Amino acid sequence: MEKNGQRCGRLVLLPCPFQGHINPMLQLGTILHSKGFSITIVHTPFNSPHPSNHPNFKFSLIPDGLSAEDIASGDLVSLIQKLNVNCKSHLQEYLSQIMIGRQGSHDGIVCIIHDELMYFTEAVANFLKLPTIILRTTSAATLLARTTLGQLKVEGLVSFQDFVSQDLVPNLHPLRFKDLPFPLNRNLESFSQVVNDIYKMRTSSSAVIWNTMDCLERSSLAFIQQQCQVPNLPIGPMHKLGPVSPSSSLLEEDTNCMAWLGKQTKNSVIYVSLGSIASMNEKELAEMAWGLANSQKPFLWVVRPDSSTNGKRNKVLSQFYRETVGERGCIVNWAPQKEVLAHSAVGGFLSHCGWNSTLESICEGIPMICKPCFGDQRVNARYVSHVWKVGLELENELVRCEIEKAITILMADKEGEAMRERAKNLKEKIELCIKEGGSCNNSLNRVHYLAAGGN
Ligand code: UDX
Repeated sequence: MEKNGQRCGRLVLLPCPFQGHINPMLQLGTILHSKGFSITIVHTPFNSPHPSNHPNFKFSLIPDGLSAEDIASGDLVSLIQKLNVNCKSHLQEYLSQIMIGRQGSHDGIVCIIHDELMYFTEAVANFLKLPTIILRTTSAATLLARTTLGQLKVEGLVSFQDFVSQDLVPNLHPLRFKDLPFPLNRNLESFSQVVNDIYKMRTSSSAVIWNTMDCLERSSLAFIQQQCQVPNLPIGPMHKLGPVSPSSSLLEEDTNCMAWLGKQTKNSVIYVSLGSIASMNEKELAEMAWGLANSQKPFLWVVRPDSSTNGKRNKVLSQFYRETVGERGCIVNWAPQKEVLAHSAVGGFLSHCGWNSTLESICEGIPMICKPCFGDQRVNARYVSHVWKVGLELENELVRCEIEKAITILMADKEGEAMRERAKNLKEKIELCIKEGGSCNNSLNRVHYLAAGGN
């Protein structure tokens, strides 16, 4: 903690510039700031966070060298590779400058915490002799699935046909080939290269922080720890651990939906969101729209302005559609999701199963309808439906009658009732993990110690 009003050293945090990565990193910053550290967020112009929401942090911009074409390509693997090449010298220059004159000062850098996808940081830190800690923002099961997929690719045992195969993957129960985290660009070559770079078990970092918990992923975490020389510390769900973190949304949150939720009865609303990247084509958008309308349940639906072009959006969500659903449907560009899921009116979440969304739902005891789109979302969906059994998966093409049926099962059927009960039990287990003396809290104390220079 602070000594004589002075903070106990500065942590430099380097998030990967995507919403699902910025959120947990800034949540971690809030937790560690409350433990007495000063926090600097080093970020890129691409998907730059909003500093005014975080007056306790210092924000520093480094160039990312991404062109408008790179960003428009939507090729996530290539964007990550480019960030790792382009940002390296800028980070080194920035850190070198601020280290001069601050050595020994209470405001000196004591550690760099970087997103696993910003792996270039390790070389920079080694050069400057600064310790690092890695933040992994996915589930532990995802690491195992990604490394297996990378290995199967190297051995020539997987191809894009396996994208739909129902066969079980050896040693990855209950994942089927179709649940493997295939990348959005379908390029397994570059994917396996990146996986190699990210998941080096021989790391020069002092520790690996996970936004997950023992009570969810004990065996996967134990398996990973066996192969890794440094402590793997699960401190999730980070949004529940420290003080409430200010919003780190890149899009403006429409808070009017909270008033709409206030008018709905307990557990009656199905909340629908596919996160910050996944998108729907016009047909899928129409099927979702009419599936929700036909379910006769109140729904709160996030349709990002970019999730299909605005023309398609306006066509599907026409005046006729809006009049048909009337007050029963609330459609927003972006919602304050954590508050939405914590609202007593919400009874189910139709989600793409990004890891943050999955954790946020589980923490509130909300059962899910899973519609994974790519990458780790497929792994998370399988765990939700077949390991924790707190949801069901929409497996096939998105069609309105299947959506309607899934909503009825989740919100008004015995099967859904059982899922809700299990979700409630899981929520209680998580609450124990994050209490004083619980496993997440103990791991957080280790993070504090290691970040401050202990070993
Ligand atoms: C991406 C990948 O899609 C995901 O699979 C991976 O696990 C992380 O990176 P994203 O699509 O952004 O994530 O999904 P998710 O991980 O669920 O993160 C989305 C975040 O945005 C959540 O914290 C959620 O609370 C927030 N959100 C989403 C809002 O605040 N408002 C919204 O309307 C929608």
